[in-house]
Amino acid sequence: MDELIEQRDRNRESVMEQVVNLCKRRGFIFPSSEIYGGFRSTYDYGPLGVQMLRNVKDSWWRTMVQQRNDIVGLDAAILSTPKIWEASGHLKNFTDPLVDCKVCHERWRQDQIDGICPKCGSKDLTDARPFNLMFKTHAGPVESEGSAAYLRPETAQGMFVNFLNVLNTTNKKPPFGIAQVGKSFRNEITPGNFVFRTREFEQMEMEFFVPPQDANKWFEFWVNERFSWYVSLGINESELRIRKHDAEELSHYSSATSDVEFLFPFGWGELEGIANRNDYDLNAHEKASGAKLQFFDQEARTWYTPHVIEPAAGATRAMMAFLISAYHEDEVKGEKRVVLKLSPKLAPFKVAVLPLSKKPELCEIAEKISYDLKNKYVVDYDVTQSIGKRYRRHDEIGTPYALTVDFDTLTDNSVTIRDRDSLEQVRVSLDRLSGVLSERLGF
Ligand code: GAP
Repeated sequence: MDELIEQRDRNRESVMEQVVNLCKRRGFIFPSSEIYGGFRSTYDYGPLGVQMLRNVKDSWWRTMVQQRNDIVGLDAAILSTPKIWEASGHLKNFTDPLVDCKVCHERWRQDQIDGICPKCGSKDLTDARPFNLMFKTHAGPVESEGSAAYLRPETAQGMFVNFLNVLNTTNKKPPFGIAQVGKSFRNEITPGNFVFRTREFEQMEMEFFVPPQDANKWFEFWVNERFSWYVSLGINESELRIRKHDAEELSHYSSATSDVEFLFPFGWGELEGIANRNDYDLNAHEKASGAKLQFFDQEARTWYTPHVIEPAAGATRAMMAFLISAYHEDEVKGEKRVVLKLSPKLAPFKVAVLPLSKKPELCEIAEKISYDLKNKYVVDYDVTQSIGKRYRRHDEIGTPYALTVDFDTLTDNSVTIRDRDSLEQVRVSLDRLSGVLSERLGF
């Protein structure tokens, strides 16, 4: 049994390495500032990565905003008055406990190291002191305390400080939500594990404002909804779990939090936290700003402060989980094949159009087919290497369908559709192509 677990863990470790290599080799994710030797734990998203990340964010937006009547979107500024961070408690509480190793002088998060320096093994560590994770900068030409500003460490506060704006400009009333996708920044002490923990990352957050007595019901609702979202995009339920925070782990604003976790190669890790923030934030901003951040219930003729249920996910971290979960190796005709079994919704290209050879008459038709399909899907037109190499490339980057244009196409007006997962190949006439693809892709 132990041997089996060891074997599985070894395989998982190698999956991490394979996925990181594939991301670099195929243009999903590059280490940032590479020609200068890199810049620790920052990453650039390449031609395929930017497309996939966009698909992750679009899938979230579609589920959370487009397909619901009770959630609206927002895009707030990354920079804001520091008064927001004072009121929200981030200036005081958004800290990690930092210790220095007195021998090798490396810095660590105390809660991650069990009292021993992971670098040199010394137990001679300084006492822990709070380290604020917000990036501080200055707005304007004068660098004084009065001009201090912070890059947002979460998108959530944009929703709280725009609560009245949204209430006054839409027809919404509790229960309703405000959703936002965007960059957040944290000066993490120990970033790492590829894009799992970085200092600049993207979040997908939604603040759901509810009557206080309904908060528990909505908390359960959102935990289940969010778990199902990852399953609907192809992650196996056995690789996911829900973990409740115990009291010491709760953030300063939360009375209950459950995380959706994924089994990363290095162990279980958080994909998303669903928190009951109560009336903490609206109260805090009401007190600090003087604006009345309450809702007038017409029926009961009373004002009340809505409570907030917040599903807060990481877009970049979710993309990493989708890549790891999709990574497969199999054997085709005696040769090892790497295939990303990505949900078609997330795959960077939905279809590859491949003329069998570079002959102009084939390229001409293939190019026309690709342009027709590009009206609806993100399509790659690829005429470079041998057809076998092109299939392998598209398997490796997760393209669900490859269309081959061959010499028969010139007479029978048909192409061959190859399925990435089953490798089944079928002949389809050009007039049925769009319908067949849409049926197979599911959109
Ligand atoms: N507004 C609540 C909030 O920000 P969080 O648990 O600190 O909660 C939400 O962050 C999600 O953002 C996490 O579950 C994770 O997916 C992502 N996230 C947080 N810090 C991150 C980092 N340093 N790098 C990548 N993703 C991060």
